[in-house]
Amino acid sequence: SVDHRACGHGKIILLGEHAVVYGSHAVAAPVPLAVRAVAQDTKSGGVDMFIPRWGVEYRLHRDPAHRDSFQRSLGIIFDELQLTDRSMRIEVFPNVPRAMGLGGSAAMAVAVIRALDQHYKLNLSDEEINALAFRCEEVAHGSASGIDNTVATYGKPLLYKRAGKKGEAPMVQELHLPKRIPLVIGISGKESLTAVTVGKVRTAWQRNPALYDGIFQQIDALTLQGVEAMQQYDLERLGDLMNICHGLLNALRVSSWEVEELVQIAREHGALGAKLTGGGGGGSIVALCPQNREKVAAAIRDAGYQAMEVDIG
Ligand code: MEV
Repeated sequence: SVDHRACGHGKIILLGEHAVVYGSHAVAAPVPLAVRAVAQDTKSGGVDMFIPRWGVEYRLHRDPAHRDSFQRSLGIIFDELQLTDRSMRIEVFPNVPRAMGLGGSAAMAVAVIRALDQHYKLNLSDEEINALAFRCEEVAHGSASGIDNTVATYGKPLLYKRAGKKGEAPMVQELHLPKRIPLVIGISGKESLTAVTVGKVRTAWQRNPALYDGIFQQIDALTLQGVEAMQQYDLERLGDLMNICHGLLNALRVSSWEVEELVQIAREHGALGAKLTGGGGGGSIVALCPQNREKVAAAIRDAGYQAMEVDIG
């Protein structure tokens, strides 16, 4: 039987990606795309994972040392819940595109944990689900801030700041917006792994920490101004802040040719602000479109990319 609650939400980051890894604030919101998973008992003698849409099919290796990176990340779930020796089939239905900066990996981890929670009646709290998904994210992209798994778990717009020390809880504040914020997501089609762009920023930061810390501080300050703009529904100001944030992300060299084209198309067709969202290096952009939303989406499609109209809040 299919249980519709076994879902993890995809997300966009409106302001603050990358800097959030270094302790800055970031604003994120769920998108109406989710990953769903179903667990069933079998007599196969192992954990079999099926992701038909991606052509992925594997038997989870019992020994973590023999798992590839994909198995290693999700494998933590089974080890931690002591289910590695069970005989089961997990089927995953991802409606979040892979490696497009929309939180697909975190949404998948949350969906699998929830499917296991329901099937084995583990009674996990959202906090426990979130903490376990964070461990998967740490394996999937090294120094994850924890923002993706938090939105994937709770499915609400939030302001996020990672914990100062390991073991401490992050600052998570739900954002209550006066009205919905109309956006267009432009999907470049160029897959990009967050692990790679996060690693690139880390290398640059290690070479010149003072310079990069300055950029992260600017992103932090504009993110907090963005929260104010959202709460006052001052979309002109929010758009400006998104544009500046994109400039700073470009300075971190996590943009790409396709992302720049998408951002230009969105701005030229009337978006108040447009920026890359998530890890970058390809992936997706987000454009703020209180007017001209259909025009922006159509122009993105005309240029050969995918566009999605979404509201947050
Ligand atoms: C990825 O969605 C957001 C990044 O800031 C990485 C992270 O916070 O873990 C790039």
